[in-house]
Amino acid sequence: MTKERVTLGGKLSAVLVAAGSAVGLGNIWRFPYIAGENGGGAFLLIYIGCILLLGLPILLAEFAVGRHTHRNSVGAFKSLSKGWSFIGYNSALAAFLILGFYFVVSGWTLEYFIKSLSGDIAQYTSSAVNTELFRSFTLNPWRPVVYTAIFVLLTHVVIALGVQKGIERSSKLMMPVLFIVLIVLAVRAITMPGGLEGLRFLFTPDFSKVSAKTFLDAMGQAFFSLSISLGCMVTYASYFTRKTSLQATALNVVGLDTLVAVLAAMVIFPAVFSVGIEPTSGPSLVFITLPSIFSTMPFGAAWSAVFFLLLVLAALTSTISLHEVLTAYLHEEWHMSRRASAWCVTAATMLLSVAASLSLGAWNDFRIFGLNIFDSLDFVTANVMLPLGGLCTSLFVGWRLKRSLLHDEITNHGELRCRLFGVLVVLLRYVCPVLLLLIFLYNLGLFRL
Ligand code: TRP
Repeated sequence: MTKERVTLGGKLSAVLVAAGSAVGLGNIWRFPYIAGENGGGAFLLIYIGCILLLGLPILLAEFAVGRHTHRNSVGAFKSLSKGWSFIGYNSALAAFLILGFYFVVSGWTLEYFIKSLSGDIAQYTSSAVNTELFRSFTLNPWRPVVYTAIFVLLTHVVIALGVQKGIERSSKLMMPVLFIVLIVLAVRAITMPGGLEGLRFLFTPDFSKVSAKTFLDAMGQAFFSLSISLGCMVTYASYFTRKTSLQATALNVVGLDTLVAVLAAMVIFPAVFSVGIEPTSGPSLVFITLPSIFSTMPFGAAWSAVFFLLLVLAALTSTISLHEVLTAYLHEEWHMSRRASAWCVTAATMLLSVAASLSLGAWNDFRIFGLNIFDSLDFVTANVMLPLGGLCTSLFVGWRLKRSLLHDEITNHGELRCRLFGVLVVLLRYVCPVLLLLIFLYNLGLFRL
């Protein structure tokens, strides 16, 4: 097949686009609270270990599959081996299901951004009042639905503009803005009274808080944060040029993603300690505790607007990547026009995410195995499909894919050196599958620690 396929512009584009997918709510909203629940500093060390041992090899494996085949995630695995094409289908289905709840949380960030502009968010110091605000908002029958729908349409606009004009340009613009805003906020948070204590919490390892669960949390977080095992990176790498260095791109993406997570924690923990909130207060850390903090700051409304804009941008570059997995699949495998593909994906994810949003309030009684729609989408993707996808990808690339093919991709056909190629193969063949199998069985509740 010699069909001309779009590619991304330069070296920087590959990094920014892939980092745009990786950096998302996972870094800014999820990482700090998971780290907080697991004792701070020690979690950070274990997390970095997981990123290097599991994240980096699987990211490289996905890059190699995507760039070699130049196809969407389903087509990529299918063209390499019919028998393994289920990895592609698993990834496309999981991308769809993740979008179902990711759009809802993204909608909340949009509402918080808009409300910050009118000064609504940063006015109450009490976290009890802010909890009530958050609850009344998420349980409202129509507001979150409207914001979710707006977010879906925003994503659609970028996808409809295409790979170069939409995805590449938006990432190039949004990623640097995100960095600047995070750094400014971190400086502000650290210089608040008590801020340094937050830094100490984040950087002093306390191994007494470490349990087996800490390792599992760290692995799950590493996968989610790097956008691996759901076809996103396969799809994006399929737009890389033959000259792109997969090794350099992967190292940069891992570095940027980890940096953003650490920076986000450097905003949140100093702020949390400064106003005396527990760092272990869970998923609500961003939506409930931060508004209490902004209200104690001069120009609090402006800070909260800036912060939630940051979340909106981070979420948007990630929803774009998940949407693209499905759009590219329909476009290439079902031979639909890109326009029609994008609309189909938008319509289907709109229905699913509206249902997920309603399931927190009006439709809360509708349960699948005891969970409402929102929670079951989160559960099945994070606990089943993500580790399963990673497991199969590492097995496939480690054992089934020709070693010379992997080597050619990683070294650009011998142009680049890869001194650690042997290590990569060992990690993909043995280390990743064993650890992932453990996570998978644990998440399914087949054993307890
Ligand atoms: N990595 C993104 C985040 O940190 C979310 C995301 C985008 C993702 N694409 C993915 C997670 C693919 C898993 C798989 O928020």
